[in-house]
Amino acid sequence: MTARNSRREFLGIAAAAVAGAGLFTKRAAAGPAAEIPALLGGTPVHKGGWPAWPEWRQGWEPSILDVLRSGKWYRGSGQQVQQFEAAYAKLLNARRCLATASGTTALIVAMHVLDVDAGDEVIVSPFTFIASYNAILINKALPVLADTDPATLTMDPASIEHRITERTRAVMPVHIYGMPCDMDPILATARRRGVAVVEDACQAWLADYKGRMCGTIGDLGCFSFQNSKHLPSGEGGAITGNSDDLLDRASSFHDCGRPYGGFKGARPNFTRGGNFRMQHVQAAMLLQQLDKLVQDTARRRENADRLTASLTEIPGIRPARLPENSRAVWHLYPFRYEADRFQGLPRDAFIKAMRAEGIPCSTGYQEQYFDGLLDEAINSRGFQRLFTAKRLKDYRDSFQELKGNRDVCATTVAFTQNLLLAERADVDHIPAAIRKIQAHGAELAKRG
Ligand SMILES: Cc1ncc(COP(=O)(O)O)c(C=O)c1O
Repeated sequence: MTARNSRREFLGIAAAAVAGAGLFTKRAAAGPAAEIPALLGGTPVHKGGWPAWPEWRQGWEPSILDVLRSGKWYRGSGQQVQQFEAAYAKLLNARRCLATASGTTALIVAMHVLDVDAGDEVIVSPFTFIASYNAILINKALPVLADTDPATLTMDPASIEHRITERTRAVMPVHIYGMPCDMDPILATARRRGVAVVEDACQAWLADYKGRMCGTIGDLGCFSFQNSKHLPSGEGGAITGNSDDLLDRASSFHDCGRPYGGFKGARPNFTRGGNFRMQHVQAAMLLQQLDKLVQDTARRRENADRLTASLTEIPGIRPARLPENSRAVWHLYPFRYEADRFQGLPRDAFIKAMRAEGIPCSTGYQEQYFDGLLDEAINSRGFQRLFTAKRLKDYRDSFQELKGNRDVCATTVAFTQNLLLAERADVDHIPAAIRKIQAHGAELAKRG
């Protein structure tokens, strides 16, 4: 801890103590209910709920009806998917975009065209939605877990190099919660060691890193447009990139292996592939929401900056650090919670108390590599054939090394993005609720 930090934390604790000491005098004026945590019988800080998600506007309906009435519903007919691809590529300043059925299928296709094959290894962020692991496993490759930097909650660039083996084909940093990973050192290591970089940008539409959009920095970027996302169409995804060769291959592989552009495959007709196509109805929904995405992103950023400024002043609340010169889009807004600064109030009890104040929040991802999915994979017949027993044992043992990730999983609390679309005064209820809970940590801890 730096001297500056410890001084700031001391001042914060002192301020909280003064606020606590003033409690009884203030109660007389303001009435006790507003000062007491809702769980202890007081009045919740926030009433009236939060903006609903997703949003629909009647004005968007004619373009959807046009698709339905045309009967041109699949990608091979109609134009909406191609229009969306052009518009999304332009928005991200990417050379190309390929729309897909989902974020998961975007990642599966990206792995294939980057030549991730059975028995290969891919280094991935462990602090992510399980689809990042699964896209690697489906290609019969081993998801090798890098560590998480507790300060940023993203892939620790220093943890990649010693995990690279002769089988490593790619690195998959995940811009989790819409926070850009520190891409320069990740790219430098990957380039030096000759491995590809595929960005899981499934939560990072319009996030930017040193002037470049997330999803356009590595070899390929993958996005999700699932219902909860900032640009939703129920299901949907996209691959972005600047290489015509990779995007031609991706277009072919996602469309049953039909020849595409410069990629003819090994035969004159079909090569290997699947059906990972987006439908025109999805694309029409997405096209309607692009302007809204830009506006919502600006609003989330403004509210997140305001929130960070307040939360930084509260001892025991540690907002995530972003890489220099980069901007997040906050699919969730996370911070690390230090129970000892809240009179020992455990994280789950803190979350319960926040919810009672009218402020929904939850823990981040857990240490899901201990949940059985990876054991099931490495014990499967295929993986046992593809890897030596020693490699699989070392792999399983290496989960114990993920100390940064363990810390992050144990301490993170996060708000969903819709809270950041609220009015400023409502967003200000978040730090107010935290301070109230902090002043009564011991009583709340006793209550359980
Ligand atoms: C980080 C991450 N990767 C991949 C995915 C998969 O996207 P989809 O649900 O569209 O398949 C998601 C979606 O939640 C995600 O959050």
